[in-house]
Amino acid sequence: MFARLQQKWKVGPVQIVLIIFCFALGGSLTGYSAKKIMDVLSVEKDWLWTVIYILLVTMIWPLAVLTVSLFFGQFKFFKGYVKRLGQRIGIIRDLRFEVSNPGLAPNSGSEGSLTTHHSPLTTNIAIFASGAGSNAQRIIDHFRNSSSVRIALIVCNKKKAGVLQIAEKENIPSLVIEKEKFFSGKSYLDELASGKIGFIVLAGFLWKVPEALIRVFPKRIINIHPALLPGYGGQGMYGSRVHEAVISAQEKESGITIHYVDEHYDNGDIILQVKCPVLENDTPESLAHRVHELEYANYPVVIEDLVKRLQATRYKP
Ligand code: GRF
Repeated sequence: MFARLQQKWKVGPVQIVLIIFCFALGGSLTGYSAKKIMDVLSVEKDWLWTVIYILLVTMIWPLAVLTVSLFFGQFKFFKGYVKRLGQRIGIIRDLRFEVSNPGLAPNSGSEGSLTTHHSPLTTNIAIFASGAGSNAQRIIDHFRNSSSVRIALIVCNKKKAGVLQIAEKENIPSLVIEKEKFFSGKSYLDELASGKIGFIVLAGFLWKVPEALIRVFPKRIINIHPALLPGYGGQGMYGSRVHEAVISAQEKESGITIHYVDEHYDNGDIILQVKCPVLENDTPESLAHRVHELEYANYPVVIEDLVKRLQATRYKP
């Protein structure tokens, strides 16, 4: 049971013990305080007593667990827990997914009109990756404590890819996709919809993105390429092949390109390019290292900027 809760709440073994302790202590404190108040109110022990007691417990419990959690360093967890509970029973309005999934709203396929909106919203991001996932890890780290962006899903087409281990370690749901279904027109749209995904980040994803997905996520899928596009891009240009080609063409500069994804390989509108030198004695490995550093420094920041801009708009189907 502990393991399941740990997974559900995305917490470690020590934290789960502290959380359960807070629940127990918060519960006892609630019962004790409610009893004391009832004594002061001196209501007769009949149905009215029970109703008032239940109301008191409902009001005191969040305060009690939040107070107790402060002493055990679990305030952040309980703040989120109480908020989610409030949303579930309808006391607190759930703003989380209002614009997180605009492309999957009814009428998906058209961009709709966008108007300015300044509510604090959360966008769920899916990272599509096929490899080691070092960029995915940097993105996860960047948004770890974000209240407006959540890395909600890792999508991968290789069962043994390193990025799946990252997903497991980080307790992020993962989805291993199959070619036939991905290119079937359905493109795992149902799975993305149930994860309320609002933005897709490709980080070393080697398959072309099918049109069905692009249509549903207009300007909401981006990719990073380890060279200065339009040079050294296109089908088959990935990993060390890119750097080998740059070095053998005796380029003086390489870098990264962050761009929107369209139905062709490495082709959509460019969002950002950052350059780095190609040194005389560079090997594909040393150049890859330099380029990776640029990726880590820039990709998470660009994602944050784009998502913030989307969140400042409200989708009107
Ligand atoms: C990165 O170099 C990225 O530019 C390219 O694929 C590589 C992924 O590396 N699209 P990693 O899996 O993030 O380490």
